Amino acid sequence: MRLNKYIASAGICSRRKADELIAAGNVKVNGAAMREMGYDVQDGDRVEVNGRPIEAAGKKVYVALNKPLGYVTTMKDEKDRRTVADLVSDIPERIFPVGRLDYNTTGLLLMTNDGDLAQRLTHPKHDVWKTYVAVVSGVLSDARIAKLRRGVDIGGYTTAPAKVRVIRQNVRSAVVEISIHEGKNRQVRKMFAAVGNRVQQLQRVAVGEIRLGRMQEGHYRKLTKREIDYLKSL
Ligand code: URA
Repeated sequence: MRLNKYIASAGICSRRKADELIAAGNVKVNGAAMREMGYDVQDGDRVEVNGRPIEAAGKKVYVALNKPLGYVTTMKDEKDRRTVADLVSDIPERIFPVGRLDYNTTGLLLMTNDGDLAQRLTHPKHDVWKTYVAVVSGVLSDARIAKLRRGVDIGGYTTAPAKVRVIRQNVRSAVVEISIHEGKNRQVRKMFAAVGNRVQQLQRVAVGEIRLGRMQEGHYRKLTKREIDYLKSL
């Protein structure tokens, strides 16, 4: 957004007055006076007017939330269950989830008010790899791993090749990392069911190169400028 419009949309003054402030050197971007009225304000830029930081209305916000169990990824639930909106209620902008996670899935959920980006990221043609760690029942044999990697029938649909790596095989369960770049409803659960293993726990640990990291469940962090640029480049 152009600098004068940015200042105006923060409710400081009109666009014309903003031009005067800019010309007079009263506007700083990232600590330095900015006299270019047409300067294109970037996400992450710090804009100050007369020494006071401002935030434009319509500012784009990008958040990574660690979704806990028992939350729906809608902003309101008709059955009155807890929603992820409850976990970001201190963010003034109206942000919404990018894609969805099941009620019983935990982990990385991106949220933003950038509708264009959200739409692009959830469009099938964008092929963003999503990585999950699943705890599944039983033994995940090499034959089953090979099937998951090739693609399995999940009820009239054959999944695209997946990346699968067993982290640990216990006596009665296995911990598996699986990456897919599709987003059919309950896809990971259905894929394991198709080879005979039931998903007991499912956590999303990454969307493309954005990683959940060590955030506590129910907590969120703002994405870095680098992460936002990466998502926009997809
Ligand atoms: N696959 C699933 O089965 N559930 C999710 O929440 C996400 C992917």
